[in-house]
Amino acid sequence: MDLFELDQKYILNTYKRMPLEIVKAKGSYLYDEKNNKYLDMFSGIAVSSLGHLHPHIIRAMKNQMKKNLHLSNYFVSRPLVDLAEGLVKNSFASKVFFTNSGAEAIEASIKLARKYGKSISPNKFKMIALTESFHGRTMGGLSLTAQYKYQEPFLPLLPGVTYVKRNDVAELKNAMNDDVCAIFIEMIQGESGIQVLTEEFIDEMIKTAKEHKILVVADEIQTGLLRTGKLFAYQHTKLIPDILTLAKSLGGGLPLGAMLVSESLENVLKAGDHGTTFGGNPLAAASGLASFQILSNESMILEVQEKSKWLFQELNQLKSKYSIIKEIRGKGLMIGIEVGGFAEQIKREAFAKNVLLNITNQTVIRLLPPLNISYKDLKVFLNTFENVLITLKST
Ligand SMILES: Cc1ncc(COP(=O)(O)O)c(C=O)c1O
Repeated sequence: MDLFELDQKYILNTYKRMPLEIVKAKGSYLYDEKNNKYLDMFSGIAVSSLGHLHPHIIRAMKNQMKKNLHLSNYFVSRPLVDLAEGLVKNSFASKVFFTNSGAEAIEASIKLARKYGKSISPNKFKMIALTESFHGRTMGGLSLTAQYKYQEPFLPLLPGVTYVKRNDVAELKNAMNDDVCAIFIEMIQGESGIQVLTEEFIDEMIKTAKEHKILVVADEIQTGLLRTGKLFAYQHTKLIPDILTLAKSLGGGLPLGAMLVSESLENVLKAGDHGTTFGGNPLAAASGLASFQILSNESMILEVQEKSKWLFQELNQLKSKYSIIKEIRGKGLMIGIEVGGFAEQIKREAFAKNVLLNITNQTVIRLLPPLNISYKDLKVFLNTFENVLITLKST
């Protein structure tokens, strides 16, 4: 049996695996068993933001591995404290809770928001999420993920969740009331095809959240840590969240998530209210700290902004040449290219030309390349993409 057959035999078939066996990864490239190399335009879905095996991250991991791999959360840990300090000093937050994953950061936020609400009134337990949102697949996260296709097999979910149409100011106004403890948002919705929240919607949310003492939870699991050209996507707007969730690239390639909270919330959860065995594991923290040191560096931030500007220009030129491209959305290096029914075909043809693309919401090519991808490699992507578009145009 080959590896794919063994995978099918022993692992639950919850993922649509690509017909590719990766044996090695370096920088912006993945290598198969025959040493064919593939340009990785989705970096493990926004995880490997500095590409694969970045030397600074590997060095930090090796150093940590000589010290300890796991101690338990009963002990303080240097890399974890240093990472928390970095996150706090570069954001609105005053404290951090570490988790293993994005969904767990969302669960922690739900619990914190519920406890906060209860401290004001027994009825203040309701939550708002936006249509087409994605906040993870645990039962709490799924309750906030306003997509019927994900929810339907697992109903009933958490009670008291209302869904507001994304960017619909009137619906938002209507839904925000004193019984709501928190509203969960993605500044740019990733899974639903790179959908950006409008300034008008955000401004109304800031106003009504204040009026009704509603916590704003910015889910930056995908948008966070420089993906959108700022360290956090909320920094593009007037919003100062009460809670912010991170994961994906936080661990520099290892599993690590976090809930960041504002000063006014730092005493809501007390010892014993919440916890995790592995969350904030020292090796993941050391890897995450090394990654964060680079991602929070001003020159890296400028580099991503310039690269993004250039890439958007190039993509818009392609849009003006090929009517298959309907829209280009996003910020930084989180870009959605709306191509309607051609998405799967484009992905297949690009794969045949050794470029790996990710499709989301069926019709959108989602670009999440390593943030340190070179211009040369971006040109490889653009040329391949254009070559695919040419063949589609002529069919
Ligand atoms: C915005 C957002 N929230 C939550 C999650 C869930 O994170 P995880 O898969 O680490 O549980 C994701 C994952 O794609 C996400 O993009």
